[in-house]
Amino acid sequence: MNILILGSGGREHTFAWKIAKSSRCNKLYVAPGNSGTAEIAENINLKVTDFEAVRAVVLSHQIDIVVVGPEDPLVQGIHDYFLNHEELNGIAVIGPQKAAAELEGSKEFAKEFMMRHNIPTAAYKSFTRYNVVEGYKFLETLSPPYVLKADGLAAGKGVLILHDLDEAKLELKQMLVGAKFGDASTKVVIEEFLDGIELSCFVLTDGNNYKILPTAKDYKRIGEGDTGLNTGGMGAVSPVPFATPAFLNKIEERIVKPTVFGLQKDNLPYQGFIFIGIIKVGDDPKVIEYNVRMGDPETEVVLPRVKTDMVEIFEAISNKSLDKINIEIDDRAATTVMLVSGGYPEAYERGKEITGLENIKDSIPFHAGSVKSNGEIITSGGRVMAITSYGNTYQEAIKRCYKNISKLKFEKMCYRKDIGFDL
Ligand code: AMP
Ligand code: GLY
Repeated sequence: MNILILGSGGREHTFAWKIAKSSRCNKLYVAPGNSGTAEIAENINLKVTDFEAVRAVVLSHQIDIVVVGPEDPLVQGIHDYFLNHEELNGIAVIGPQKAAAELEGSKEFAKEFMMRHNIPTAAYKSFTRYNVVEGYKFLETLSPPYVLKADGLAAGKGVLILHDLDEAKLELKQMLVGAKFGDASTKVVIEEFLDGIELSCFVLTDGNNYKILPTAKDYKRIGEGDTGLNTGGMGAVSPVPFATPAFLNKIEERIVKPTVFGLQKDNLPYQGFIFIGIIKVGDDPKVIEYNVRMGDPETEVVLPRVKTDMVEIFEAISNKSLDKINIEIDDRAATTVMLVSGGYPEAYERGKEITGLENIKDSIPFHAGSVKSNGEIITSGGRVMAITSYGNTYQEAIKRCYKNISKLKFEKMCYRKDIGFDL
């Protein structure tokens, strides 16, 4: 099998690392990739939403499976593009078709889906610029904090949580009338605030069958103790200690099954990963959001715990025979700590040389925002590298991450020193 992974982050390096171990993988390509994927695969420079460019690469490199890392190409319909081009027929695309990708592409669509299928989630109403005043009135019926969500994709920045009613009204106006998030906020979902601890649940589906992958918890805020600005994710832990078998059973019965069956009932074709953001309210799971891809940095702790051949899994997704395979999970814990550029998630500098990688022996550095230039590995993004470790406990794994991070250096390197603090 020749395989093409689309994307360039730590998630995609982890996919490449896992796929490269498979004897079923012949040639492995990552587009555009990073300095980490360059070591184990061939990078091809293209824009993941340029479907014509993807098509050209797939045909010239005789690709059999395309693994789509980020959401943008899925929401823009890359899977449908393959189905609609005869010469691309028969090539497996891991990721849902456009209609199903709306679960991430539109918050309102996701909410309506959950309501239709009785999937537990926060109460909500949605508004446009034509009924802003009703939005204000709805806010007045709620108690703080107020949750405002831009309906469309806003690069992870479209959710605002506000403690003051006047501020919430002002933000609502800026989103709807002032286009604060551009087209993404022409519609806004206002939600009931849910108080609890969050975890991420990952499901693989071939459209008929499903398999649940290990849970993970990510740390989204830049500052220790979960303070400061939101980021793409500063670290992750798998499994999540508070996800007991009884709680996982509730997730499967109340959320995973109705989600997979709901997709079938609604005729939403889905072959890929479903990432369900869950919040534990009391003893009950509620859905915060759906993503139609794997998480980053959750992938960096989930895939290292999957023992089964990833290519075998992708083939089963494509052949709709996921029920025929058994996915074996490593009992050990895995944790990851993200190294970021100074200043991130606001403005930061790039082009800093990363040194010390050769000294890391018992962790896995998954490269994210880094590229190779003149023989050096230099920073090219905000999230630079995720350092993943195994351990018999998550505490042991985290200790190993920090031990190895102390051997790494780049100018203004930052990271959170408290990953797992709340477990
Ligand atoms: P989302 O982009 O939907 O994942 O939202 C970003 C973050 O906002 C989530 O990870 C939660 O921490 C928080 N959040 C979203 N919706 C709610 C809610 N209804 N209640 C409390 N927190 C929320
Ligand atoms: N870590 C959260 C995400 O990938 O959306």
